[in-house]
Amino acid sequence: MLPLVAREYAGWCQVWAPAKVNLYLRVVGKRPDGFHELATFMLPVPLFDTILARPAGNISLQCDDPSLPVDSGNLVFRAATLLAARHAPGRGAEIELRKRIPHQAGLGGGSSDAAAALVCLNHLWGLDLGRSELAALALELGSDVPFFLGNGPAWCTGRGEIMTPVEPAYRFNLVVVKPMEGLCTRQIFQLLGAENLPGAVGDFPDPKLQDDQAFQNALRQTAMALGNTLRNDLEVPSCQLLPSLEQIRKEMMSAGVLGVVMTGSGSAMVALAADASKAVSVAQRLKSARTPTGPVAVYVACSAVG
Ligand code: C5P
Repeated sequence: MLPLVAREYAGWCQVWAPAKVNLYLRVVGKRPDGFHELATFMLPVPLFDTILARPAGNISLQCDDPSLPVDSGNLVFRAATLLAARHAPGRGAEIELRKRIPHQAGLGGGSSDAAAALVCLNHLWGLDLGRSELAALALELGSDVPFFLGNGPAWCTGRGEIMTPVEPAYRFNLVVVKPMEGLCTRQIFQLLGAENLPGAVGDFPDPKLQDDQAFQNALRQTAMALGNTLRNDLEVPSCQLLPSLEQIRKEMMSAGVLGVVMTGSGSAMVALAADASKAVSVAQRLKSARTPTGPVAVYVACSAVG
């Protein structure tokens, strides 16, 4: 997938902000700064929010999802005020956020919106900042924000911001299921049990490193091989808070997919299908799934890779 691009459209500057999925996420350990060291594979998927901005006297945000804040509780607003404070004092913009990516889902919607806002306002304000300058601001906004300034699928370490681009040998035919309940990233990391933490970062050799290798090898082989290596260490705490995720996993597996994994800190679950038509038929079947709080949202997301 192309990196974020600013386009001019009817007097507005517009950037499409894609979602991401983590098909592998290993928690390596807890760091002295309180964050967790990760080894994760992140993949942009074609499910988009849109950011629009035009010049104005001050910074304001509107959003078509009334459940989201439009002040400093929204990462887009924070991205705009951070960029202005560091590089464009006194500049303003009227910003519109059109939400399609479900939030509290582990799909990176808020992070992608923040990265898109940086790209959009960098263009609108004529700042001409390079990727590394934007990436430094992005990491201040959140661990996943720098990923969206990258070029596509990547093996990510550190908090998730140290990216090595990956070119998988095939495309990913994915079905994403999001229950109505969302999950809070901070809370999920807090619930991580000691069994998922090998120790302080640097306590090597870590026996789980061979799992990383198996996943990376499968990226160079087939989707079928990858199905057996999907993993997310945050699934244990997420399922404790939301046991219906286990039920979604079972329903996905019984629909005949190659593998199932939770993305990020949840609550969306991702199934890997053998091909695009299988993804569509699995999605059809899962549309009638329910959790105790209501129906689930189902998306087919086939990557453009391969
Ligand atoms: O970086 P971000 O704001 O998205 O992270 C939200 C929370 O998730 C952090 O405050 C931290 O508690 C936890 N987190 C973590 N290790 C990471 C990423 C997030 O512990 N690599």
